[in-house]
Amino acid sequence: MSVAEIFETMEYGPAPEAKGPALEWIQQHHGQFDLFIGGDWKAPSSSDYFDVVNPATGKPLASAAQAGAEDIDTAVDAARRAYPLWSAMPGQVRARYLYALARQIQRHSRLLAVLESLDNGKPIRESRDLDIPLVARHFYYHAGWAQLMESELRGYESIGVVGQIIPWNFPLLMLAWKIAPALAMGNTVVLKPAEFTPLTALAFAEMVERAGLPPGVVNITTGDGRTGELIVRHPDIDKIAFTGSTEVGRIIRQETAGSGKRLSLELGGKSPFVVFENADLDSVVEGVVDAIWFNQGQVCCAGSRLLVQESVEERLLAKLRARMETLRIGDPLDKAIDIGAIIAPVQLQKIEQLVASGVEEGASMWQPSWACPTDGYFYPPTLFTNVSPAAMIAQVEIFGPVLVSMSFRTPQEAVDLANNTRYGLAASIWTEDINLAFDIARKVKSGTVWINSTNLFDAASGFGGYRESGFGREGGKEGLFEYVKLPAPAHLPDTQSSARARRARRTSPPESSLLDLPPVDRTSKMFIGGKQTRPDSGYSRLILGARGELVGEVGDGNRKDIRNAVEAAHAAAKWADMSGHTRAQILYYVAENLAVRTQDFAGRISAMTGESAESATREVEAAVRRLFTYAAWADKFDGQVHNTQFRAIALAIPEPIGVLGIACPDDYPLLGFVSLIAPAVAMGNTVIAIPSEPHPLSATDFYQVLETSDVPAGVVNIVTGMRNALAQVLAEHDDVDGMWYFGDSEGARTVEYASAGNMKRTWVHADGSWMDGERGEGQEFLRECTQVKNIWTPYGV
Ligand code: NAI
Repeated sequence: MSVAEIFETMEYGPAPEAKGPALEWIQQHHGQFDLFIGGDWKAPSSSDYFDVVNPATGKPLASAAQAGAEDIDTAVDAARRAYPLWSAMPGQVRARYLYALARQIQRHSRLLAVLESLDNGKPIRESRDLDIPLVARHFYYHAGWAQLMESELRGYESIGVVGQIIPWNFPLLMLAWKIAPALAMGNTVVLKPAEFTPLTALAFAEMVERAGLPPGVVNITTGDGRTGELIVRHPDIDKIAFTGSTEVGRIIRQETAGSGKRLSLELGGKSPFVVFENADLDSVVEGVVDAIWFNQGQVCCAGSRLLVQESVEERLLAKLRARMETLRIGDPLDKAIDIGAIIAPVQLQKIEQLVASGVEEGASMWQPSWACPTDGYFYPPTLFTNVSPAAMIAQVEIFGPVLVSMSFRTPQEAVDLANNTRYGLAASIWTEDINLAFDIARKVKSGTVWINSTNLFDAASGFGGYRESGFGREGGKEGLFEYVKLPAPAHLPDTQSSARARRARRTSPPESSLLDLPPVDRTSKMFIGGKQTRPDSGYSRLILGARGELVGEVGDGNRKDIRNAVEAAHAAAKWADMSGHTRAQILYYVAENLAVRTQDFAGRISAMTGESAESATREVEAAVRRLFTYAAWADKFDGQVHNTQFRAIALAIPEPIGVLGIACPDDYPLLGFVSLIAPAVAMGNTVIAIPSEPHPLSATDFYQVLETSDVPAGVVNIVTGMRNALAQVLAEHDDVDGMWYFGDSEGARTVEYASAGNMKRTWVHADGSWMDGERGEGQEFLRECTQVKNIWTPYGV
């Protein structure tokens, strides 16, 4: 036999990683784990424990505590008590703790890797070479941000106690993504690992003890969804950070609506893997292996939809099938294994059912000729061809090693197919043509785009979704903003809506008030798609002045008007493609045209609100200044180039959210309106604005300014009427991508609740009274109307 023949036919021998130390560690705890609360190990109040099973054998490894209401109360209380000390520590002190945690993780990296593979079923190659090194990297990276917080996030402060709920697919890595930034920014945490995979989180709790973190800064409470619910509902938690299914994300969005809790959600995906005919097909095949068979396809950003240019489809699929034959499935602790075990029988059944539905729907299913191990929960790599884009398997997150393949002819078709799901987590684009790659990268709706690569992660680069894949980012500087807030403005009145507060402050109308001028009788219409339109309802609302006199009438907008406005805003989407420079020029023009009409606008404000001429003029001037500010920002709100560990350029680009609904505060009829629409359109969004309900005439006057300032039709749409009712329609609308609401607490709750339909981004304020102060403008507004897309391009020959 020749050497070549031996090479071809040689079988792999077993190469098992030793599991002894991990099993010993479990044994040291007598196979049973309590809750880590306030720096101590506490038995659950219910005395309930659940089994933790090794998915590669189906046998129990240990048991962990099911935390109940009393336990979560204790954990939140411990985190609350630890908060003043931890948040007040200088950043450099917190940094030292985070460095200590990173070093603990490195020192025990093999124990953690083996535990992770035992508990989750993922190949040791992945836990050893990817998960655990990245965990350490996250703590190191964020230790740096703790150190730099005071200088680089000047003016920001921590949020408070954060509840964190994570899934089972990357147990320790998801813990690191959540805990490292939270602690770095001065928050304390109560974290719940997934019920299938609590072991590495418990090992991490021991490291927290050894690193000497103050008790209560990190609390680890194991349990299933019921424990998660208790965390979500707890009144003394300030923020919830969740990674998991879109279904549970939606429940959490509804559950937290109106509670004032901050929320970040990292949800499911159905990520496209787009291959153009000029791609290097051999690299593509390895890319696909990584995209869909990494971690058995149980990856939120798995490249589960292969979109191939028709001309190379057959060639690529042939290569792929040949490669699938050589994939090795089996014991996750075997170092030469490519595919490990599926997490649990329930997940295996879900995969089997979805595969069966694919076959039923007429797609062609292909699996390699070899058989899976029969112990434990295994599923073979599976390829579907002949799939219709609307088929269940092309739309639903399977979360298993199942790839669906579809073809396209033109780049535009590729973009349409790529964007043809409700998700937007990640995308891979394969072509040797850099122009094409970037063109497609900008057009695909997803938080991460990998060019000629896939599944690259690093602490320095933000990760998170567009659309129903959730909102918020983890990693990078952009991720820090999920764990900080600006302090509440000092001049905020405590309770009343500020319009009322202003009225209360006012004595009799000032003598020099423009209020005494006779009101001009004009029909104030709505403004939709660049046209002045009458309300669909045929009703008008009477607008009264400060003394109860009639100062005008506006249309009473309804659902139909909102629908038309949303359509118009979508039709104006190319506004986003204009350069920042062009948008800036248009905003400058708007500002100039408003400035020349200062007197008219001040008169209108006075007539509606009873403000003095002087005060109303100040409001107009402030609005003009703000327009100039956002015109200035339009071409300056840059992204970043992230400094990752790879030979890759990772571009973090802020992109507009899309169509944004904006409900304006009652107060400051002009300034409130301008303060909200100006940043939104400066960043390339198109908007549907609901002006101040009691004082809408400044906004309806404003469309004359828009009309004379070259603002393209549909970029700004104005629908007058009852704010909360209209805001609800916007929040429920599936073609609205984001919603800003400045009103009362009831409206804020409704908007957050209704936004769960398509998981739109929301920014709500139950008191919009700070429009006039420093807080009324700034980068916070720009961040809230953009989402960061990270585009990775590896380089090297
Ligand atoms: P899941 O979303 O139910 O679980 C994620 C975490 O949320 C776990 O810690 C769980 O205990 C907790 N949880 C469950 N119900 C909750 C509730 N009502 N309130 C608060 N917390 C709750 O995901 P599951 O059941 O483990 O997997 C189901 C499907 O979800 C998978 O088949 C997959 O499609 C998807 N999934 C997506 C992930 C992603 O990263 N995108 C991660 C895990 C699952």
